[in-house]
Amino acid sequence: MHPMLNIAIRAARKAGNHIAKSLENTDKIESVQKGTNDFVTNIDKEAEALIIDTIKNSYPDHSIVAEESGLMEGKDSDVQWIIDPLDGTNNFVRGIPHFSVSIAVRIKGKTEVACVYDPMINELFTAQRGAGAQLNNARMRVKQLKDLQGTVLATGFPFKQKQHSESYFKIMSALFVECADFRRTGSAALDLCYLAAGRVDGYFELGLKPWDMAAGELIAREAGAIVTDFAGGTDYMKSGNVVASSARGVKSMLKHIRENGNEAMMK
Ligand code: IPD
Ligand code: CA
Ligand code: CA
Repeated sequence: MHPMLNIAIRAARKAGNHIAKSLENTDKIESVQKGTNDFVTNIDKEAEALIIDTIKNSYPDHSIVAEESGLMEGKDSDVQWIIDPLDGTNNFVRGIPHFSVSIAVRIKGKTEVACVYDPMINELFTAQRGAGAQLNNARMRVKQLKDLQGTVLATGFPFKQKQHSESYFKIMSALFVECADFRRTGSAALDLCYLAAGRVDGYFELGLKPWDMAAGELIAREAGAIVTDFAGGTDYMKSGNVVASSARGVKSMLKHIRENGNEAMMK
């Protein structure tokens, strides 16, 4: 195993176990609003500190981008760890047991290793570039679709960008005619991993941040998914707008996105 994946897993398990444990004593969870409909808790921050500590112990020179701490430039700017210590904070603060820890390592701009950990059901999703994706060490493969008939698609609502809600729900409406159903689970990282595991057939969301998707994206791609932005290009890490499925699934989803989305989304 890639040594950095080893450290990523160690860090994700430490943080995940801390988060899961904290749900046993909800009085100690303090939540503050950091943006429009956007919350952070002391547990997000504690989990992030545990991850950063674990990375720094083995790789003191690497750079780190973490959701709550921002960019920490190290001596080595070629290697960058991208961390979401708690993806699914809104679920977490409500006691809904669906959230994850997401850690990816990018080397010279390419994601090399990734792990997403769901501490509530002890599921560990991992990937190494060129070596496939695993759930608890078992190989995962994306389901190959003919079209959207009978599919279940995961998505996230644009709750931080409500200016896009009209176009977004037009897209949903058009997709709903073709697919079987939707899931809005509340953790983008797990949505991408569930796609990799064949639990859902496609996923799209807009306005994501790099830490929401960096690890899930590699895991989905290594399981055979195609990942694009809303224009069918590869700029999703920049725009935050992402579509993922098998090749034909992406093609069908993009058609509805193009026909119903607004211009500002098309990147
Ligand atoms: C959020 C989750 C959610 C997605 C949001 C993200 P957070 O991350 O991934 O599923 O819809 O766009 O911001 O804030 O819980 O880390
Ligand atoms: Ca997130
Ligand atoms: Ca988060």
